[in-house]
Amino acid sequence: MLKKISVNDLKLGMFVADIGRSWFNHPWKSKSKLLSSYDEIKQLIEYGIVEVVVDTDKSKPEPKPAASPPPATAAKPSAAAQKVVPVRPAQLTPEMVSNVEIELPKAAKAYGKALDTSKALVAACRMNKKIEMTAVQENVDELVESVSRNRDALMALMKLRKFDDYTYTHSLNVSVLAISAGKSLGLSDEDLRTLGMGTMFHDLGKTRIPSKILNKPGKLTDEEFVIMRGHAAMSGRIILEQKLPVSEIVFKIAKHHHERIDGSGYPDNLKGDDIPYLVTICGLSDVYDALTSDRVYHKGRSPHDALKFIYSLRGTHFEAQWVDRFVQSVGIYPPGTVVQLSSDQVAVVMDINQSALHAPLVKVIAAPDGMIYSRPKLVNLESENEAGDLKIKRVIPKGEAGFDPAFYFNPPKE
Ligand SMILES: [Fe+2]
Ligand SMILES: [Fe+2]
Repeated sequence: MLKKISVNDLKLGMFVADIGRSWFNHPWKSKSKLLSSYDEIKQLIEYGIVEVVVDTDKSKPEPKPAASPPPATAAKPSAAAQKVVPVRPAQLTPEMVSNVEIELPKAAKAYGKALDTSKALVAACRMNKKIEMTAVQENVDELVESVSRNRDALMALMKLRKFDDYTYTHSLNVSVLAISAGKSLGLSDEDLRTLGMGTMFHDLGKTRIPSKILNKPGKLTDEEFVIMRGHAAMSGRIILEQKLPVSEIVFKIAKHHHERIDGSGYPDNLKGDDIPYLVTICGLSDVYDALTSDRVYHKGRSPHDALKFIYSLRGTHFEAQWVDRFVQSVGIYPPGTVVQLSSDQVAVVMDINQSALHAPLVKVIAAPDGMIYSRPKLVNLESENEAGDLKIKRVIPKGEAGFDPAFYFNPPKE
């Protein structure tokens, strides 16, 4: 019998018959699978899949757990050399679910669809085919709606999901960052949609850059650099060539996202106020995503380091007030960051407190000795920390936590 269930209810031994995705956006080589490891469930979560179809006739009984269940055997989180061991969280009670988690299933659907569209956009440009605008408009609307309901769910997804193909994820991530930043800056829905559309198109010009330059692991030669810089003007040209029905500001976001206020940018060396604020937000989001993304040849910087770097461009590359606002909106500890608290407990950041960036809402996962709590507790480091002695001590680098933070974002069942 075929049964639709939430990925959160998957167990080892279940036969997953369909995940509702085409092979193009599928985590497994085969369309169906008998679940034999938690890694396979983790892959579904990372791909933003919320529900799957299980064939109960082909399913087997859940295998007995090893002698000690994962919570009791979890290794000390802070040791850098540890292997990442995905640990299934205990069933969370409703009061342990944050607002981010409530929006997560809808955000995951919007992100998954927009990712397919991002791939289709790149494919259309590479093959010189007409861009399908309806899908882009729909996806941008859904992203704006998700951010309007909860600003941090899409941001958390972006951080928790792992994709190897920067070509497709970059434009979408810049869109999510820009819409989220725009939302917390109080921009109108129309501005947010313009921002979403412009950012989705901003690097389309890269489809016309030879891949040996685009994907070169080492430093570009001066000549290659000139060719690479041509992508921004090319993004604008593609919009004109395709006669896309978009506003002038969408065109400007695509063409001018590398302009800098001191005139050092390209393609037109625009200065100061000649760069519209929506273009600036795209530029900031672009730099942030480029710095924090893992690429084939190097690991991305932490959000904290990326924001420090962006801060160093304040007043030279970007208008000071927009840098301040951007840093404020992204937060120094974005959702999904694993941190060590002053108590030496390990926690995952769930939600940002815009009024106190250093004190977000966290889910406390592990005790100081590394034992994983069976019932992780949500703690607002600002309002539920009256003594003020529980603080974030440090960020635990990606892959060194000893658990996967994605498991602790538990969307409640709809
Ligand atoms: Fe670019
Ligand atoms: Fe970009």
